Amino acid sequence: MTVDTDAPPTAPPAFGSADNLRQRARSVGMNPDYWYAVEEVRNVDPGSVTEVVFWKQSIALYRSEDGSFHAMENRCLHRQIKLSLGEVEGCRLVCGYHGWEYDEDGQVAEIPDLFGRKQAPRLSVRTYPVQVRYGLVWIFPGDPALTDERKIPEIPELEGPGRWACVPLTFDLSAHHSIIIDNVSDFSHAYLHRQYRPFDGATLTRHETIGDNVHLAYETRVGRGRISGLFVDHERLNTNHMELCYEYPYQRSDTDGEIKHWLFVLPIDERTTRTFFLFYFRSLKIPMLPVRIPRWAMTTVLRLANRMLIGPLLSQDRWAVEAEQTGYEHNWNAAPIEVNPVVRSFQQVTVRKWQEHLDQEEAAAKAIDA
Ligand code: FES
Ligand SMILES: [Fe+2]
Repeated sequence: MTVDTDAPPTAPPAFGSADNLRQRARSVGMNPDYWYAVEEVRNVDPGSVTEVVFWKQSIALYRSEDGSFHAMENRCLHRQIKLSLGEVEGCRLVCGYHGWEYDEDGQVAEIPDLFGRKQAPRLSVRTYPVQVRYGLVWIFPGDPALTDERKIPEIPELEGPGRWACVPLTFDLSAHHSIIIDNVSDFSHAYLHRQYRPFDGATLTRHETIGDNVHLAYETRVGRGRISGLFVDHERLNTNHMELCYEYPYQRSDTDGEIKHWLFVLPIDERTTRTFFLFYFRSLKIPMLPVRIPRWAMTTVLRLANRMLIGPLLSQDRWAVEAEQTGYEHNWNAAPIEVNPVVRSFQQVTVRKWQEHLDQEEAAAKAIDA
């Protein structure tokens, strides 16, 4: 007899019917009232359009021929086909079917054939605020009134003339965002990386939730792998300590102020997440010598490091989080067992922020009815 182990017996519970914290965490979206990275700038040429998704909402992201970015609801008001199937002309997005033209404000600015009508009807689709920062395009999918209050994280090392080199790494992962947040900050998975040893022997020394942020620190041996160990200056830096933060909805780490990363997640649906990793280093050293790699060479070195070291390392995490997603879908009813207390804290914040969003939506709906 053969048993099909690929097909889950029943779907995991939705948020409202979840029984425990893990089930709730694995079912939620992310609060839309934040800026979310959606694409790397270098992947969208001027005069082109692409589809991005924030928690099941399809968005047409296009770049005018002048290089500026715009985002709008991804459906033509005429027959509801995706505007991302169209083309960019100048500053307008043109639907691929009958050629209706949408301007940057989402207004239908031109209808090629009006069948004798004098004027095009006044119609518009929803637009989203867009910013470009750190080589990434960011969208604000929530309440537009909050765009100024909620900031894109400040990363002074990545701006200005003396900025540190950084080459983003993007992955589309078949896993829920909460599985990814658990993975990147729970250092109990050193075993997975036994070949590269980015962290070794982690002891949790701080674990504190302050507002929407979970702060943690580990005593751990950072960057001791056979290759990475050659580039990290263990003489000069304290590589026995790492601080991390789940700064909802973002995540970051810091080793002695000189080796840092940010992770920006884009939740797509219950089993899909896009991740943008920014790793940056004040400097790396030339292997075998007590000499730093010059600033001008760092971008090239980082490209190589991404390809040869950080990329393969994160591919191990990809394997793990995707396997965990499959495991969860098959065994969502199993008792949740955790050894690292930070995991529970991440999940609590993730669930609370989603609940806040649902409560706000409900209050807004009531206000309209009243
Ligand atoms: S469907 Fe878009 S113009 Fe007709
Ligand atoms: Fe990892």
